[in-house]
This record gives sequence, C-alpha cells and structure tokens, in this order.
Amino acid sequence: MNDVHKYIDTNAQRFQDELFDFLRIPSISARTEHHADMKACADWLRASMQGAGLDASIHDTKGHPIVLGEWKGAGENAPTVLIYGHYDVQPAEPLDLWTTPPFEPTIRDGRVYARGSVDDKGQLHLHIKAIEAYTRTAGSLPVNVIVVAEGEEEVGSENLMPFIEKHAQRLACDAIVISDSTMIAPRSPTIGASLRGLAYFELRVHGPRSDLHSGSYGGAVINPATALARIIATLHDEKGHIAIPGFYDDVLEMADFRKQIGELGYDENTLAEETGVPSLGGEAGYSTPERLWVRPTAEINGLLSGYTAEGSKTVLPATAMAKISFRLVPNQDPATIEKLFRAHVQNVTPEGVRAEIITMHGGRPWRARLEGKLVEAAARALESAWDKPVVYAGEGGSIPIVPEFERVLGAPVLLMGFGLPGENAHAPDEWMSLENYVYGAHASASLLDELRGG
Ligand code: BES
Ligand code: MN
Ligand code: MN
Repeated sequence: MNDVHKYIDTNAQRFQDELFDFLRIPSISARTEHHADMKACADWLRASMQGAGLDASIHDTKGHPIVLGEWKGAGENAPTVLIYGHYDVQPAEPLDLWTTPPFEPTIRDGRVYARGSVDDKGQLHLHIKAIEAYTRTAGSLPVNVIVVAEGEEEVGSENLMPFIEKHAQRLACDAIVISDSTMIAPRSPTIGASLRGLAYFELRVHGPRSDLHSGSYGGAVINPATALARIIATLHDEKGHIAIPGFYDDVLEMADFRKQIGELGYDENTLAEETGVPSLGGEAGYSTPERLWVRPTAEINGLLSGYTAEGSKTVLPATAMAKISFRLVPNQDPATIEKLFRAHVQNVTPEGVRAEIITMHGGRPWRARLEGKLVEAAARALESAWDKPVVYAGEGGSIPIVPEFERVLGAPVLLMGFGLPGENAHAPDEWMSLENYVYGAHASASLLDELRGG
C-alpha cells in the first residue's frame, strides 16, 4: 500500500498533465457539432484506461460511446468493484464570463479551471490514476475492477440504461463507486446520503400565427408571453410550496434524515455568500439543507419570448417557451409527475392560447444505505486520505443512472464526491481543487484495498 501511495505522490505532476489533455477535449454531449470530439474523448479515455492496466473497450450506442475498462485478475472469489463516471460536459456558454477559456485548463490558487474539471473528468480520472498506481507498483489490483465511463450523463443517460441491462452479467459487481458529487466543505471528506430525481419539460405557449404589431393587436389578442407568465406563476403558492394538485402525494417526510441533517451544523450563511444573493429563500417550514436534500422543487431553467435584442421593438410575440424542471425526492416518480404537470397546465392555461408540453428526460430520486461494508470501507479510505472524520450529507443534484445501477446490478452505490462548494459546475469558471484530485486518488486506492475480500 505504501508503494501505491508513494507512486501517486511521485507521479502527481504527470497525472495533472494528462488530466489537462483530457480537459482540452470539448466533449459537449448536447451539441451535434461536437460529435467528433465525443469520439476523440472516448478514444483518449480508452487509451488512458489501457495505460492503467485495464482491458479497455469502446461500445458504440445510438448516442455517444461508452468506454469500459476491465480487470478480472483477482479471480472469481474476489469482490468486483464497478467505478462509474462521465466524460461528457455541459456547454460552456456564456463564454465571455470565463476568466480563461473553458477548454484551456489553467491553474489559479491550487484549482484547475476548465469545463468538466470537477464535473466529471477530474473525478473520473483520479480513479484511473489510482488503478494505474496499483498495477504499476503491485502488478495487480486487490479486487476485480470495472470502469464504466459514459458520454451522455449531462443529457439524461438514455443509452446507458439499456446498456447495463443488456450487459448485466458482464457488469456484475459487489459495489458501485461514483465520484460525481461534492464535499460539504473543504477538507471535510463526504459520503453522499441522497440524490434528487428529475423530471424535465419544455413548455411552449402558442398564440397568433405570427408575431404581431403590439399596437394594432395588443389588448384584443392574448399575449403568449403573458399567458406563460401566468402559468408559471401558478407553480408555487406564496409559501413556496408547489401548487400542482397531487404533487406531494408520494413525498416521504424522512424524519430520520431530517434529524441527521439537523445535527450536521450546516452553515446557511456560506450559501448566500457563495451565490451572491441578498438572502436565501424557499419552501416555508424547512431549513436550507432540507430544502436542498429532502424537498422537491419546481424550477424555471430557461425563458424565451419576443424581442430581446438591442433597443426596443413593439411586438406581440407568436410564441413563448419555458424550460421547466422538477427535482424529486423519495418516493416521487417522474412519470407520475409528468401526468400531474400536464393536467395542471391544461387546467391553468388561459383561453386564447394553446399550451404544448415536450418531455425531455428524467430520473428517480435515491437515498443511500449508510451502513454495511461498503460505506465502512469508504469512510476508512477517506479518513486515511484526509485525516479527518467523514461527514454524511445529502446532494441536491441528480445522477439518473444511480437507482438503475442498484436495481439492475443489485449492488449498492457509494457516492464519494470530491467537488467543493462554489465549484461552478455547469457555470463559467468551473474548477476542481488539485488537492482534492490528489487526495481523491489516494482515497480511491485505499478503498480498493479496503474492499479486498477475505
Ligand atoms: N454531477 C452532477 C450531479 C450532481 C451535482 C450530484 C451535485 C451531486 C451534487 C451531474 O453531472 C448532473 O449535472 N446531473 C444533472 C442531471 C442530468 C439528467 C442532466 C443535474 O443534476 O442537473
Ligand atoms: Mn456529473
Ligand atoms: Mn453535471
């Protein structure tokens, strides 16, 4: 074990150089013009896994390829650990708000700034480097390992779901380890206790056949932008509760989890500072961490209508569009939420316009089992890397494949995230702490050792 950790420290600079190569590939899954980059990124990953001593292969899908790395040398009786991550990244816009370009990784203050640095390339890469450290020093791994890297997490993991079902035998494992989440604070190693689910829609409001002169027609023709605003305004009541009938029917109160959260000593002030808002706000009756981890939300992710360029234009827009998503908590189901949302919109749409709803993607909420061998091993591994006790915290974000992994493969998922508050994931100036990258590699290597059978 000492050799493995020494290898990580001695090679940290080279690891970082390689991570930079990974980060230079603009693997934006949402954009057709980046298809070739997605392929190049998958090829790069395959080579990286191969270099770490894994048998690496690329699996084409209807969308972006899945990269698999396998090592079964520990034998049939040894445990198998599946490590999952994603190599796709979110679009980098707005580009002018980046201090340095998104695909030119740059170090400032011990952080690497680049799109995908923390979400999720850095967090995936550190596992590959931990594996490399093992195979290069010990010549083998303490457990069988499967690495699954997908290129569609940021667009809903549509093709990974059928892939794991089809290859369930090949992917059979005893534990699933994922680093695609955050630590609650710097130097506070964190195990993720939950993820929220997601139900994502586009709502289009159609009015007149084309844009109209707002003087000649305004007042007599219903304005789709106003109609959309009215629909949106019905989503919440004045207490911040979601006002869609039946929306909370399946929500568990999770008193045990809320008690745990209350004991965390969560500092509400840092979130206001981190985000730059004058004050925090949300559903009445719940604390900030409860609002983030145990309560569902309805959010407007985008709004579009009418004239938005320079100057003024007196126009009554023909259409208005909103991207609307719901974060879900146990036991809400994205398909049920879709039915309720559709019925509600139909109910509140003013006469004179027509509403259309397009379903984008979704995922189920998830709660971790926080006892058992896997969590105990992870706590020891994290504590040995940071020399600090582990914290168990919820996560507000979604990783749709997590509940599916548990359902199909029958193995527990461990969320061992190395992001930090303020990391700017999905936003300009995304960064990952280089300390977390190296400590994360140590923790990953220790975890493989801790999970050794017998
Ligand atoms: N890594 C995030 C999910 C995440 C964020 C987990 C913060 C824990 C804490 C992931 O890449 C992501 O962004 N997921 C999307 C869902 C997807 C279906 C678009 C999300 O949460 O919006
Ligand atoms: Mn991610
Ligand atoms: Mn993401």
